Amino acid sequence: DEQSDAASVHDDLLVISNRQPYRHRYDDDGEVVTDQPVGGLTAGLDPVVQRVDGTWVAWGDGDADEEMVDEDDCVRVPPDDPSYTLRRVWLDDEDIEGYYYGFSNRVLWPLSHGLVGTMEYQENHWQQYREVNEVFAEAVAENAGENSLVWFQDYHFALAPRFVRERAPGPTLMQFWHIPWPDWDTFRACPVREEVLDGLLANDLLSFHVPRYCENFLGCVDACFDDAVVNESTGEVQRGSETTRVRAFPMGVDVDRIDEEAAACTDEEWVEFAEQIGIDPDVTLSVGVDRLDYTKGIPERLAALERFFEEHPDWQGELTHVQKLSESRSRIPAYGDVADRVEEAIERINGRFATDDWQPVVRLDSHLTTTQLYGLYRRADIALVSPVRDGMNLVAKEYVAAQTDDPGVLLLSELAGAEDELGEFALSIAPYDTASFADTIEQAVTMAEDERRERMANLRAAVAANDVDQWMADIFEEARQVRMARER
Ligand code: G6P
Repeated sequence: DEQSDAASVHDDLLVISNRQPYRHRYDDDGEVVTDQPVGGLTAGLDPVVQRVDGTWVAWGDGDADEEMVDEDDCVRVPPDDPSYTLRRVWLDDEDIEGYYYGFSNRVLWPLSHGLVGTMEYQENHWQQYREVNEVFAEAVAENAGENSLVWFQDYHFALAPRFVRERAPGPTLMQFWHIPWPDWDTFRACPVREEVLDGLLANDLLSFHVPRYCENFLGCVDACFDDAVVNESTGEVQRGSETTRVRAFPMGVDVDRIDEEAAACTDEEWVEFAEQIGIDPDVTLSVGVDRLDYTKGIPERLAALERFFEEHPDWQGELTHVQKLSESRSRIPAYGDVADRVEEAIERINGRFATDDWQPVVRLDSHLTTTQLYGLYRRADIALVSPVRDGMNLVAKEYVAAQTDDPGVLLLSELAGAEDELGEFALSIAPYDTASFADTIEQAVTMAEDERRERMANLRAAVAANDVDQWMADIFEEARQVRMARER
């Protein structure tokens, strides 16, 4: 098929990501069980790696992971139908602290999101990040042939491409950076900016979600290196004998699967779930689904809701915002701070406006089944997607893909990458502008059916035209061209 064809100038595919596609752990009875992520990148890539019997290299973070691997740290997955090799990399506490909690999530994450003030650089974290990137690079070099296609995922591996290139000149190296790339005036705050950029330039193909991030990256390379020739119009960087293509490929979601999952949530199941979480199944429903991260604009969203209820007391008892939160990176103080702010805001709003049988904000922390999650999206009359900065934001696309009947309204931050594709038909919001955000909530909940229908039809067309399969096919096609250009 299309994807395998596009990858066919390469002998095999290696994927490298921090999170693994299958995780083994012991359940309460001491039996080994397999966890598999729902949605997101790993779930999207898994079928492709299965089709081509590739190799996936990732951090083995499950407590039963070690028991399941062979002497080369490999295990065949999926467990029910082994189709490819998962090579696990082991990290000790110090590695995790420096590489994951340290340089990845205290420096590259905030910096890429333009939040220089949140950055916390420590030299020992950086050393650990380098070492872990080297360990991953060794695992890749051991498994890659002359003609392999090696695909790094995200900001955990800014240096690994360089380390692989030093060991193996043959394979095509590419990377997808799933978060924004900032402009030079922001990025120059990074004490190790040269090494980070140099590591990424070892890729033959480097991709981002939207053209703006590519432009920012090229601007950084231009400003940082005297010996780099940057061609803004072709998106190519020449440095010494190396060429790096920089391209935008906006990521999509698995539209067909989400459509099915949403449709699978029957009215009965929905009513049961609504009762379980303590909401009236017929209330006007607002939804937010986020990792508890300071980039997601959750306090800003709650401030807008508070303002909305202040100004429109007639909506008391009529509109409920269900906020699903997943704890994330909570050992980092900036994450603890945002968690506190969110908790205080929810308590305050509910304290101010709740009635005997209604709460304005319902917070969900526990795991939802796929049917519950997509059922919630499907029934939600409005979705509040309000990041203060986001590489893409797939929640916006998932909500749209799950709108299989009565069309809802998407409120989307103008600071999310998804705005480029969806901004025209969503209601755009400026997350820090509480007053206008509150007005937009009012506009959404009172929007006439005709307008809702038209907007949602356009949104669904946009999301379907660029789903996750299309995204991957486009990237593999570009990789094929890059390979052919290298051979010439
Ligand atoms: C973002 C990053 C991913 C990451 C995910 C969850 O989407 O781009 O690489 O996996 O957040 O964060 P975590 O730190 O739990 O992997």
